[in-house]
Amino acid sequence: MARILIGVTGSVAAIKTTELVEALGGKGYELRMVLTKAADYFVPEWNPVTPSDRVGVFRDSDEWPDKGWKRGDDVVHIKLRHWADAMVIAPLDAHTLAKWANGMADNLLTSLIRAWDYQKPLIVAPSMNTLMWESPITRRHLAQILSDRQNHYPPTGSIPSIDHLLAAYKNFHEPIRLVPPIIKTLACGDTGAGAMAEIAAIVQAVTALVMPNLAMD
Ligand SMILES: Cc1cc2nc3c(=O)[nH]c(=O)nc-3n(C[C@H](O)[C@H](O)[C@H](O)COP(=O)(O)O)c2cc1C
Repeated sequence: MARILIGVTGSVAAIKTTELVEALGGKGYELRMVLTKAADYFVPEWNPVTPSDRVGVFRDSDEWPDKGWKRGDDVVHIKLRHWADAMVIAPLDAHTLAKWANGMADNLLTSLIRAWDYQKPLIVAPSMNTLMWESPITRRHLAQILSDRQNHYPPTGSIPSIDHLLAAYKNFHEPIRLVPPIIKTLACGDTGAGAMAEIAAIVQAVTALVMPNLAMD
């Protein structure tokens, strides 16, 4: 069965990580997780009787353990890249999106993204406050990522609309997909677009790329 890496960033939607792990685990995928430091604040403690039992959890402390890396020791972000058949980043917060778009790699997850093999599926589910989601900064970052993948530099024209970007991710020639956030009353009390997609929609997007025959069932 396919091996899926789950990247989790510091959006409040990270409280749904157990649900995501159980849904993907229930499909039979082999799972590993990478948490940012901020994600660790939100992700609930593991319930040892769920499928999440089987999930290896990786943090920055696994990438940079005690002083003294020597030849032959793991380079964890590359090892995880080799291990994975696909990666899903859910939730993807504004900060990690910004780092991704700008090529920054200052933690385990962004190092993984920076070193990702884009022939393998990469599914992202953004989650942020409505004004963050609708900000031109977010659209600029989403456009930059696609533009880089197409070797277009600098990106031309004005910043695309969010509808244009969502369509572009849906039809992109490489297996990189964005599961659009949904409209609802957010944890902060604001109502609008920006809440992480439903877990079922994320699982569906993963399966559609990783096991297309299964997704049609
Ligand atoms: C209670 C709380 C909720 C947050 N929710 C979000 C969110 O939904 N989306 C987002 O982009 N940032 C959110 N943030 C801000 C991020 O946690 C912050 O930008 C952090 O630096 C992200 O780091 P990371 O991308 O390395 O995980 C939240 C912060 C707090 C304290």
